[in-house]
Amino acid sequence: MQFTVAIDGPAAAGKGTLSRAVAEKFGFAHLDTGSLYRAVGVKAEAEGRDPITVAQTLCSEDLARDDLRTLEAGQAASKVAVIAEVRHALLQFQRDFARRDGGAVLDGRDIGTVICPQAEVKLFVTASAEVRAHRRWLELGGDEAQVLAEVRARDDRDMNRADAPLRPAEDAVQIDTSDMSIEAAVAAACEVIAARIAQGPQG
Ligand code: DC
Repeated sequence: MQFTVAIDGPAAAGKGTLSRAVAEKFGFAHLDTGSLYRAVGVKAEAEGRDPITVAQTLCSEDLARDDLRTLEAGQAASKVAVIAEVRHALLQFQRDFARRDGGAVLDGRDIGTVICPQAEVKLFVTASAEVRAHRRWLELGGDEAQVLAEVRARDDRDMNRADAPLRPAEDAVQIDTSDMSIEAAVAAACEVIAARIAQGPQG
């Protein structure tokens, strides 16, 4: 069975937690596509290499680095993500993952719009910039005002780039998690997915 759940949204909106929970509930495989861009950004910066070559030769060890979750890695990812050739190099891997047998959840910025426009379910997960910065700050510490500035800078870059900018697909279901518990957000997402599964293959 092929069944793709595309989950897009800005940084720290809760996509990761939501995607993992949904994948577990339905027994689907999960791909955090941000980790691909993080791995490219961090490796290119650390080794002073061209991000396009790094993206074209990315391997599983690069994705297993332990420095991919930092604020710096997020910024590095967002910078290489504006390069069309980097996005192109990562495209087929994501599409193949999406159509694997047994169902797949992919979270990112352009899954419903560019990578899998045919996804059976598209969710767009948002929250206010302040709420997202507060969550990141609880996770990573540091200066909260600085974290908010970084979240805004990343939103700006992700939404205004020419290639595959962050925006909801026309048929995406939006979930605003600003005032929602993670349990409530997971329940809302599962309801949408269960309803689509119940419709059968043609939808
Ligand atoms: O989801 P994340 O914070 O790990 O993503 C890091 C950066 O990678 C994000 O700021 C933009 C980029 N990204 C992207 O352009 N497209 C995706 N599908 C996923 C991430």
